[in-house]
Amino acid sequence: MKKPDLLYLSDMPGGPEAGTLLVTLNSLPAHGGKDIVFTEGRLRVNIFAQRYQNTIYVYENRCPHAGTPLNMFGDRFMNIEKNHLLCRTHGALFDPETGKCTGGPCKGHYLRQVAVEIRNGAIYSL
Ligand code: FES
Repeated sequence: MKKPDLLYLSDMPGGPEAGTLLVTLNSLPAHGGKDIVFTEGRLRVNIFAQRYQNTIYVYENRCPHAGTPLNMFGDRFMNIEKNHLLCRTHGALFDPETGKCTGGPCKGHYLRQVAVEIRNGAIYSL
């Protein structure tokens, strides 16, 4: 049964089917972030994984303010203090554990959490 509050990639145009390998845990860089993009023709699905306090969180890489990716480039999603996800477009800060914007132009709104499972050292879409 699908949870209504989660984003299922297989429901998105261009998204991968359930059970797709998204990233292996040992391929995450030391800072713990990984930008993940799926493309199919002109369709594009962009998510990211971020390790935070020994837990992995996966969100759609789309800021609820203006819809841009949080990262400007590369796999960096955390602020300098390493306690919030940061949207580099206008500086919104998000709680890494819930995706809730705690400061900035979309305060109170949420990143969309992606439905995943972690097994055998890797993250898979549900
Ligand atoms: S697009 Fe993220 S804060 Fe404006």
